[in-house]
Formats: sequence, structure tokens, C-alpha cells
Amino acid sequence: MNAKRLSTRLAALLVVGLMASACENEDPFPTFDELDKLRQLHTMPQRPPVDPTNRFADDVRAASLGNRLFHNPKLSSCGTVSCASCHDGAGRTVATAKADGCNGGVTGRNPPTILNVDYLRWFMWDGRADRLWNQAILPLTSPVEMDSNATIVRAQLNATYMGEYTELFTKTPDETEDDELLANFGKLIQAYERTVNLVRSPFDEDVKRFIVAVEEGREKEDPSYLALKTYFRKGQCIVCHQGVTMSDNLFHNIGVKDSGAGAPGQTDAVEPMLNWKFNAAGPYSDNRNGQDAARLSGVRSTLAEKRAEMEGAYKTPTLRNVTLTAPYMHTGELNTLAEVIDFYDKGGDEDGTFHGKKTETIKKLNLEPEEKEALVKLLESMTGTP
Ligand code: HEC
Ligand code: HEC
Repeated sequence: MNAKRLSTRLAALLVVGLMASACENEDPFPTFDELDKLRQLHTMPQRPPVDPTNRFADDVRAASLGNRLFHNPKLSSCGTVSCASCHDGAGRTVATAKADGCNGGVTGRNPPTILNVDYLRWFMWDGRADRLWNQAILPLTSPVEMDSNATIVRAQLNATYMGEYTELFTKTPDETEDDELLANFGKLIQAYERTVNLVRSPFDEDVKRFIVAVEEGREKEDPSYLALKTYFRKGQCIVCHQGVTMSDNLFHNIGVKDSGAGAPGQTDAVEPMLNWKFNAAGPYSDNRNGQDAARLSGVRSTLAEKRAEMEGAYKTPTLRNVTLTAPYMHTGELNTLAEVIDFYDKGGDEDGTFHGKKTETIKKLNLEPEEKEALVKLLESMTGTP
């Protein structure tokens, strides 16, 4: 063997050796820290967290009226579009990438589900609503969705729900000024949406069983071992999809192709949200000095340093009930969960096809076919059983 061939062979052996030792040195799954995160993934509470900014959030009368308003197309200017037009069926969304509203309008983004929605901390893909009640004002008044206003809402309340409205708010719709009327509409809708939950899934049982297996030292024999290990390690999914909602309630740029008007994502949404009269700190909030208002000051104070990260960033969606909510991503560009896994495996869409810069976590994963399959099954198991 000549010197050159010998040195290549030695180099090759060295590489193999390093790879083997990297594998040997890998901590057994799960580490203490990972076990802690596993414990936080399962068993959602039956009710969403309280919202003191809406004093009717858990009022059953408000929920009942909110339910009827949610389904009433007469609240739209065209008379044919209700909230339910885009948030109905088992998945409480539509099966298309975009949805149709009044006057031939088409939404700019994919409608997310409203299942378990008030467990989340921000609303809309770009976070432009900080509370669920104020979120409802956006589609109500959006020209491409319900294209409505306080006058139309007041007329409907007067015609059909006058007694119930007046009893709850202790004044008639006519005695309520426009902005307050819109806020009250939102508060009724939120009370209803808080009851639209699907919180138990096979995933919860699998994670609980896996944790017991870990405690008994037989985790490798558990059927969820490969899926959970890939979700935590090679896939890095747990970095963002964590906690019982499987969302960190933060915004990330994961590189989803988008050249539309909304492509800047959180960047364009954050200041309007902070300055909005309907936010948690505004005059229509029922708890203007509480922690939800303080959270807004927190966002404002870190605005300058976080600016770059907000470019092209979208909210981490919940993964609960995900089999019911295809297509996926804020653009609805991916039709199946297998396509979602392939998207992550290739490290997102190509640079230049979306606004801003991908976050560091999103890179080529080199998943094996069985790892991909395990992840798809894991996602499927997150769908609730009524
Ligand atoms: C024409 C279709 C359409 C109609 C009508 C509509 N929505 Fe939506 N909804 C969407 C789209 C699209 C989004 C995402 C918009 C975005 O993030 O930019 C959305 C987002 C939401 C969200 C945020 C979910 C999340 O995870 O952040 C909630 C809650 C919601 N809609 C409730 C409602 C309510 C309440 C009404 C009626 C007042 C309504 N929607 C009417 C299409 C619609
Ligand atoms: C850096 C944070 C981050 C990581 C890591 C991450 N995700 Fe996501 N995920 C997001 C964000 C943000 C979105 C929405 C992006 C968009 O639409 O622009 C998303 C969207 C999704 C969706 C679509 C949901 C829907 O309703 O449209 C699925 C499914 C999903 N992720 C699963 C996974 C899996 C599985 C992994 C691991 C292989 C993973 N994610 C890793 C942040 C992350």
C-alpha cells in the first residue's frame, strides 16, 4: 500500500471511529430534562386558562348567545358569510388553502382551527390580536371576510337578541356606542369559542405510558420510543411544539414560501397590535392593569432587539387535532402530514422564496424513512377523540 492510499484509509477509519463514538456518547433518551418536557406534553386541562380581560368569558348565557352570533350570516354585509363559514366541520376550518368571504373576497392566509383556541396566547398567524375577544372584531370587519360594522351588528342584535344582550350588558344595543358594541360582540364570541375544545387524544395516553416505561427502565421496548425520540432529537420539533398545546406561543421564521402582501409576518403586525384600542390594555378591556396588559409592555420593551427575528415569522400552531385541519402552514401550501415532514426534512423552502431569514433550528434533518413514518403517526395520534 503506497503512502497516499494508507493515509486515506487511516482518515476513513478515523471518520468511522468518530461517528461510532458520537453514537456511543449520545445520552440515552430521554434525559432528565427531556423527561420533564415529556411530562408537560400530555393531558390538557378541561378548560382554557381564565381571561380576566373579558368578564363574560365563562358566562354560559354569553356562550349561548355567542354560539348563535358565530353561526349568523346576517352579521355580514353580504348576508351570506358567518364565522362558521370558515370555521366549521370537525376541524373547525376549511379544507382549502384560502377561504372565500363577502363580495368575492379571498383570505390572504389559511384559516387555523378554532378548536382549543383559547389555550393559546396570541391569535392570528402573525399575532395581531392579543385576546380572543378582540380577534373576533378582525374577521367581522375585514372587507374580504364579513365586511361588517357596528351598524349591521346593532341591527341584528336589536332584531333578534335584544333581551339577552340587554340583560348581560345592562344597556340596549342602541345605548352602546360603536366600538363598545364591537368589543361586546367579541366577548360573546369568545365565551362560545372557549367551549369548542377537543382535548383528549391517543397521544396523551401514549406519552403517559412511555413515561411509566422510562421509570421502569424499559423505554426502548415502548411502541412510541422512535417517534418521541425523533420528535425531541433529530427532528427538534420539541424546541417549538412544546407544552400541552404543542406550541411555545412564540413566532418563528421556518422558511415557508410566501410572496404575498402578508409575507413579512409578525413584523407588520406587532406595532398595530400594541397600539390597538381593543387590546388588553385598552379602554374596552375588563382588566386593563392585569398581566395581559403587562405582557404588552414587555413586548414593546424588547421590540428593537427582536425586530430581525420577527421578519417572516409566524406563530407556532398547535399540533392538536392536526389530522382534521389540512392543508398546512399559514399559506396552506402543504396538503398532507407526510409533506410537512418532508418540508422539515429538507430544512424548509429555499432561501429567497420567503421574507426574512430562517431560524437556525430549521436545517436539513436527514431523517430515515422509518423516522418520517413514526413522526407522521405521532402527529396523527394528537387528534382528539370526542
Ligand atoms: C372568509 C373566511 C373567514 C371568516 C368568515 C372568519 N374567519 Fe377566522 N380566520 C380566517 C383566516 C384566513 C384566519 C387566519 C388569518 C391570519 O392569521 O392572517 C382566521 C383566524 C381566526 C382565528 C385565530 C386562530 C389562531 O390560532 O390564531 C380565530 C379565533 C378565528 N379566525 C375566529 C373567527 C371568528 C370568531 C369569526 C367570525 C367573527 C371568523 N373567524 C370569521 C378565516 C375566516
Ligand atoms: C423553530 C420552530 C419550529 C420547529 C423546530 C418545528 N416547528 Fe412546526 N411549525 C412552526 C411554525 C412557526 C409553524 C407555522 C409556520 C408557517 O406557517 O409559516 C409550524 C407549522 C407546523 C405544522 C403545520 C400545522 C398547521 O396547522 O398548519 C406542523 C404539522 C408542524 N409544524 C410539525 C412540526 C414537526 C413534526 C416538527 C419537527 C420535525 C416541527 N414542526 C418543527 C415552528 C416549528
